[in-house]
Amino acid sequence: MTDQAFVTLATNDSYVKGALVLGSSLRSANTTKKLVVLVTPQVSDSMKKVLHKVYDEVKQVDVLDSGDSAHLALMQRPELGITLTKLHCWTLTHYSKCVFMDADTMVLTNIDELFEREELSAAPDPGWPDCFNSGVFVYRPSIETYNNLLQFATERGSFDGGDQGLLNSFFSSWATSDINKHLPFVYNLSTVSTYSYLPAFKAFGANAKVVHFLGRIKPWNYTFDTKTKCVREMHQPMVVHPEFLNLWWDTFSTRILPLLTEHGVVKDASSGLKAEEITEAVSQLSIAAPVPSMSSEERKERWEQGQMDYLGEDSFENIKRRLDTFLK
Ligand code: UDP
Ligand code: GLC
Ligand code: MN
Repeated sequence: MTDQAFVTLATNDSYVKGALVLGSSLRSANTTKKLVVLVTPQVSDSMKKVLHKVYDEVKQVDVLDSGDSAHLALMQRPELGITLTKLHCWTLTHYSKCVFMDADTMVLTNIDELFEREELSAAPDPGWPDCFNSGVFVYRPSIETYNNLLQFATERGSFDGGDQGLLNSFFSSWATSDINKHLPFVYNLSTVSTYSYLPAFKAFGANAKVVHFLGRIKPWNYTFDTKTKCVREMHQPMVVHPEFLNLWWDTFSTRILPLLTEHGVVKDASSGLKAEEITEAVSQLSIAAPVPSMSSEERKERWEQGQMDYLGEDSFENIKRRLDTFLK
């Protein structure tokens, strides 16, 4: 099918790593659809070359940013205004139907059957299931829809400052009008659900088709040990089900790292890197992608509003470490 495509977005080299793993996972699952990645001018030329190895089309678009810090702060993700750039996916009118997938998703199996669905089909958001999650959705490219979305964004804004708030207000009948537009959750299994509803994950997790590393900390913020095939140095004190994270990294180190080495993105272009050297190269990559930081003023404000990052920076371990420095 040449008039149907999977589409993703990367506005910087960190998200390109995600896009490469996603594209590679779709190829391994033998998709018959085209693969398209939207990039912005911030993406480096060498990363664009590597993207061409995995994607059929690498299309440059302009950044669209909501600049809506108030709403983004509410969801604790000031960096997500840029996700409005996603709207460009409606301009790919040389395709009749597409499936958009966030760069922090990966497929575990062939999901070409999604193209039987209509616009706008998506899975429920794990945080507010009457909204759909905009990390995976089926849509029909159309300039008219694109213009309407832009107009809607200008006039009404987005309740979360990013694309998901806007798309949910625009396709507002999703929750109630047609059950066929509700994708089963296994098409967008967010890794946060593995600890928010563990029994369901135990019962149904094996049917997962798409995993979504939703949240501030992404797989490329970790370091991977290629010998044990496990993620090292967990940012979160407790990753309940590291198997998806390990799978992402396994794909990255076996399929993507050789491409990066070939294109000189990772130093040492020599073939046959030893395991330790690969680990070294991989850890260099993870250092290049620090977790987006928050000012201490912002953290204080969130703490006071009862929104502590209890699995991350405000974890018990970190608080204890801080108290220990005072006691010393
Ligand atoms: N994205 C991007 N650059 C950014 C932030 C986001 O390219 O700086 C794109 C990328 O495709 C990403 C999507 O927008 O997967 C949505 O952002 P993210 O996945 O971080 O949001 P989450 O799913 O964690 O809410
Ligand atoms: C979400 C979605 C993501 C979207 C973001 C901003 O949590 O997972 O795809 O870009 O919200 O609206
Ligand atoms: Mn995402």
